[in-house]
Amino acid sequence: MSRKMYNEIDLNKIDVSAEPPTGEPARQYYFMAKCRQWVRAFEQKNGRRPTACVTTFGCQMNARDSEKLAGILESAGYESTDNENADFVIYNTCTVRDNANQRVYGRLGELKRYKKQNPQMKIALCGCMMQEPSVIEKLKKSYSFVDLIFGTHNIYKFAELLCASQEAKGMIIDIWQDTDKIVENLPVERKYPFKSGINIMFGCNNFCSYCIVPYVRGRERSREPEEILREIESLVADGVVEVMLLGQNVNSYGKTLDKSVNFAELLRRVEKIEGLKRIRFMTSHPKDLSEELIQVMKESSKICRHLHLPLQSGSTRILERMNRRYTREQYLDLVRRIRKEIPDIAITTDIIVGFPGETPEDLEETIDMVRTVEYDNAFTFIYSKRTGTPAAAMEDQVPAEEVRRGFDKLLKVVQDTARSQVAKYQGKVMEALIEEINENDTSMVTGRLSNNVIVHIPGDASMIGKMVFVSLDECHGFYYIGHLVDF
Ligand code: SAH
Ligand code: SF4
Ligand code: F3S
Repeated sequence: MSRKMYNEIDLNKIDVSAEPPTGEPARQYYFMAKCRQWVRAFEQKNGRRPTACVTTFGCQMNARDSEKLAGILESAGYESTDNENADFVIYNTCTVRDNANQRVYGRLGELKRYKKQNPQMKIALCGCMMQEPSVIEKLKKSYSFVDLIFGTHNIYKFAELLCASQEAKGMIIDIWQDTDKIVENLPVERKYPFKSGINIMFGCNNFCSYCIVPYVRGRERSREPEEILREIESLVADGVVEVMLLGQNVNSYGKTLDKSVNFAELLRRVEKIEGLKRIRFMTSHPKDLSEELIQVMKESSKICRHLHLPLQSGSTRILERMNRRYTREQYLDLVRRIRKEIPDIAITTDIIVGFPGETPEDLEETIDMVRTVEYDNAFTFIYSKRTGTPAAAMEDQVPAEEVRRGFDKLLKVVQDTARSQVAKYQGKVMEALIEEINENDTSMVTGRLSNNVIVHIPGDASMIGKMVFVSLDECHGFYYIGHLVDF
């Protein structure tokens, strides 16, 4: 992690012998200052600073939350590390599908071994999985070595909870059922210096019948546009050139605010920020994608030529059971309108296979949709039954073996379609943002095009964070090998 954003609060000036303030975020800064005292004592005793590792499971929203956790740990004086054999380890968990949960339980076993070697180690768990009562019961019963557990609604209280756990023995659990609160201006430690996610809204009100997110993330709440713009301006001043606006359904942005500002309007305002070069967003629900948004995207020189538009199923019957509130025809019509206005746009999607009641004919409709839309990429998921969701109670669950067969069949079509879509850019010169040194060949750097396609070119670390023109020479399935061109 490389870059931090402090918000003009000098922790050294806080009197930690006084009572903690009640207002936020002042209260959390007080606890950061208090944590620092403990960190200093640790340093004196051990001759080194305590190390902290933040591990993220799940989506971009969780990744952004992890940057906030890292920012608070950094402010409290911890030394950040990627090694989970650390003095403080926190897992920011996901529960969207059961395999995410299983990974957490598996890795907790490993942490237990580390803790045996380092008894002063603290283990914390937070995020979506912690909002499920059955998970908490299991942790209490079989994972008593965990020190701190909190949820998604009180993550802003992390400094206070960290402080309590530094001194405490035994497990601290603090889970809230919901919140209407948004606490602004806490420190953030960004993973990338040149690009950043920005929350524009929290929670979800859609209740797709398979999905647990509305239950673990609570009701939809939008941030004030001024707060969002201010945050982006300060990020740009700190070297950020690309932002990703984050929400479970960005197209319904603004609905919970008093003033009338919608997502298209927010984008117009973000576009005006000088020095910002690229704007992305995630995720767009097809039912709420407005004509106005299409126009804003078309006219924009900063909004990337990429739209992630989750389909979930190509069968209207299944879409209805999923409570997606659009039909196959409405989705296709939307795609046609988008492509007509913005012909060079890349469209990607999410698809679930094996939703209760899905027949081979329904799956064929999904496969047909992949061919018709010609997705540039699609994330395909096997349906996972989530306790408490309406779909979990549906009777006609599809046998695992049939799901697997359907999944493999779909995946092949997805890959073939994606390959031929990506191949279309062969020989073109396009602008890329260079993001990192190539993992496999350190004489190369990896960049991303506006349409989200990856390109590897010869280069060095000095290019990271820069926008450059590249020639797309060789298509290797989903990515290109290219070279830098003067333009
Ligand atoms: N808010 C986003 C999706 C967030 S979850 C949207 O509406 O598009 C990311 C993806 O996980 C979803 O698009 C869906 O394809 C998948 N997903 C969600 N719940 C699932 C479940 N129970 N089983 C399998 N996949 C699921
Ligand atoms: Fe889940 Fe649907 Fe909300 Fe997306 S829109 S988070 S799939 S309930
Ligand atoms: Fe997972 Fe929570 Fe995101 S359940 S997908 S981390 S909102």
